Amino acid sequence: MATKTVTIEELKEHSKKDDLYILISGKVYNVTKFIDEHPGGDEVLLAEAGKDATEAFEDVGHSDEARALLPDMFVGNFEGAQLKEAAKAASGLTNPHVNSAVEQGSNLMYFVPLGLLGAYFAWRFYSSA
Ligand code: HEM
Repeated sequence: MATKTVTIEELKEHSKKDDLYILISGKVYNVTKFIDEHPGGDEVLLAEAGKDATEAFEDVGHSDEARALLPDMFVGNFEGAQLKEAAKAASGLTNPHVNSAVEQGSNLMYFVPLGLLGAYFAWRFYSSA
């Protein structure tokens, strides 16, 4: 089955304690059944309703056990996630492939002129000898 895409409107529709979605790292989770069991309490989860909770979730330093609970609550990918990834890749800040391409580009930018300079001096040296 294809993964569902959750829109910002849908995310905001599920902002109540008895019907709550949480957005973490581009993925939307239905925490309705979990909210009363959350060791961090219900209020912090409710405070993140309808928005990107990634920073709040990461700031707490949630354990691997906490992260292991996420797949069971998975609803779908957030609509903006792909756009965000594309923007990141385009800016070349987080995508390692883009980074290395940019690095290679800047290496070339040094070596091509240096090579030409070297060739020029070699030519001068040999032609004047
Ligand atoms: C669906 C998402 C979440 C899950 C599955 C989850 C799960 C857990 C779990 C299992 C713990 C116990 C400690 C640990 O194992 O790391 C915990 C603690 C905590 N969580 Fe979450 N959490 C979620 C989202 C959030 C969010 C969005 C916040 C927002 C600030 C938050 C705030 C906290 C806090 C403050 C604690 C520490 C409680 C304490 O040690 O007294 N959690 N969470």
